[in-house]
Amino acid sequence: MENKNLEERKEEMLKNYGLKHVSREFDGTKKISEDDLNFILEIGRLAPSSYGLEPWKFVVVENEKIKEDLYKTTPRLENTLRKADKIIIILSRNSNHLRYSSNYINYVLKDVKRIPEELVTEIKSGIRTLQEREANSMYDTLSIYHWSWRQSYLALSSMIFAANEIGISALPIEEYNEKQLEDVLVKQGALDKNDYSISVMLALGYGEGDLKTERIRRPMSELLTRI
Ligand SMILES: Cc1cc2nc3c(=O)[nH]c(=O)nc-3n(C[C@H](O)[C@H](O)[C@H](O)COP(=O)(O)O)c2cc1C
Repeated sequence: MENKNLEERKEEMLKNYGLKHVSREFDGTKKISEDDLNFILEIGRLAPSSYGLEPWKFVVVENEKIKEDLYKTTPRLENTLRKADKIIIILSRNSNHLRYSSNYINYVLKDVKRIPEELVTEIKSGIRTLQEREANSMYDTLSIYHWSWRQSYLALSSMIFAANEIGISALPIEEYNEKQLEDVLVKQGALDKNDYSISVMLALGYGEGDLKTERIRRPMSELLTRI
């Protein structure tokens, strides 16, 4: 990219990302186009993950009846969610699929990414080292699940960024009742608890009104160390 274009692009990205709608509310009348939704999902799909294992799944909730069930899982945000257009629930793969010796890892490395056999062995050895470090024992289910869960936030972050780039507001949500939300998804056949667990929710819609305000953050000097 030419330098001038690059500078313009950086400026535009900073503007898009640095501003937010004054109210946290969505404009309940505006719908996200299929094309824009696909764009956001596609950027989520392309998100990086540890060893490229993509240990996630995205569930888009758009059916009004199912949304009603979903509102009940997060009562404080019911009014906000009612005005959101789409709600994405990110699921994380359970630890049984993510041990270095699992079938899923073989599938992703060999069948999806078509990585040669010798390299697969090397990568799996890397994953084993990570898992043995990560957990005191390589059979520590919780640590391996937390590893999986962390990856899903990269997909979350990518989708938030993509939404911002095209003028769509994105509100991540963690304050739901997990058991109730699980029940909603299981009932709809969108979650098999043997394979996945709920990671995080992302509400998408257009922000209300035209007024925008700066995103307030701690100054860089407070959070950055360069050595
Ligand atoms: C992982 C994550 C989880 C969040 N969960 C909630 C939540 O459960 N409820 C809520 O009201 N806001 C939630 N938020 C929104 C944050 O409060 C909001 O992003 C933060 O205050 C910064 O807002 P701003 O980017 O609009 O300045 C969450 C944000 C993130 C990144």
